[in-house]
Amino acid sequence: MRPETIAIRTQTERTAEKEHSTPLFLTSSFVYDSAEDMAAAFADDSLDVNIYSRFSNPTVDEFIKKVCLLEGAEDGIATGTGMAAVFSTFMTFLSSGDHIVSASAVFGSTHTILTKYLNRWGIDYSYFDMNHPDSIEALIKPNTKMLYVETPSNPGLDIIDLDYVAAICKKHSILFVVDNCFATPAIQQPLKFGADLVVHSATKFIDGQGRVLGGVVVGNKDLIKQLYLFVRNTGPSMSPFNAWVLSKSLETLYVRMDKHAENALYIAKKLEGNPALENVKYPFLPSHPHYAIAQKQMKNGGGVLTFELKSGIEGGRKFLNSLTWLSMTNNLGDTRTIASHPASTTHSKLSEAERDAVGITPGLIRLSVGLEHPDDIVEEILQALAH
Ligand SMILES: Cc1ncc(COP(=O)(O)O)c(C=O)c1O
Repeated sequence: MRPETIAIRTQTERTAEKEHSTPLFLTSSFVYDSAEDMAAAFADDSLDVNIYSRFSNPTVDEFIKKVCLLEGAEDGIATGTGMAAVFSTFMTFLSSGDHIVSASAVFGSTHTILTKYLNRWGIDYSYFDMNHPDSIEALIKPNTKMLYVETPSNPGLDIIDLDYVAAICKKHSILFVVDNCFATPAIQQPLKFGADLVVHSATKFIDGQGRVLGGVVVGNKDLIKQLYLFVRNTGPSMSPFNAWVLSKSLETLYVRMDKHAENALYIAKKLEGNPALENVKYPFLPSHPHYAIAQKQMKNGGGVLTFELKSGIEGGRKFLNSLTWLSMTNNLGDTRTIASHPASTTHSKLSEAERDAVGITPGLIRLSVGLEHPDDIVEEILQALAH
């Protein structure tokens, strides 16, 4: 079966009720037929038996199975949020005295974990610039255990050659972890390029309608077993309700991502060259600095584009205030188009130098392109730029 069909037809085994749509197992725990069965379930943590929904749940398992099939992974684990997926991955595979190499262009909370929390457990980090992947190898030390990237990155839309980074990681026996949140498996499957683990905030395009939070990590069985034990014991597990929403969302992932990307490319082309803008950045615009890499590893350019207002930070505020219906919110990956101005909002506490280091320029607007008619979106942006 092709992925579009797998995303729709992978489902928990039909119950005696003969339901058509997938059931929701909203239960905290599961029962046993005998004291012996219960004892066996607890004695061996590799037994494929449901015990308690912090450990496993059929609805959550359905969601994990789908993501594994779509990403081409052996196994996976779901978490309550994307950040729980990122943090659980760090905590499972990094120990005191270890070092992680990460792209500097990563989501704000990931940046906070790397720079403000990991050192509490004696874990050191080094950043590299996504525009200079040739600088990666010099940062690797004998205690480097993990290399972490987002591609495309949030919000700068930087792209890195997954083949190239995977080869460095193999050479130095380092775990290669990719946050694939912006692309989703419908556009890019990092494991096929040599990544060891793929992390998602399912809150974004996987949900696709801005309803629930979720995270997922997929990879080979051995790595996921270690993550499973961490999540099972420390508790950042996904709720069955959210898993049910997200599993239903995956049924439409492929049509949604194609349309998000079609709209985004259309809008990017309409905005490129606008006199109010310094530049427009979108992975599938030939002007993107990493266009060739995007063409090699992505099916399309995804649903997010950015543009830089010539009018800087004040212009960014003015642009947001001039929107009439387009949403002003910090989420992304919704059917509704969303504009955000990181410099005056999500990243306002950073100094200008810190913002520059992660690619957030004063007039940067991030547009998560929705599924509305693209001409309506273009008209709304043009009227806001005209203010
Ligand atoms: C690239 C990326 N990774 C991780 C996260 C964190 O996900 P969550 O908000 O589900 O915790 C986000 C959230 O915006 C993100 O954009």
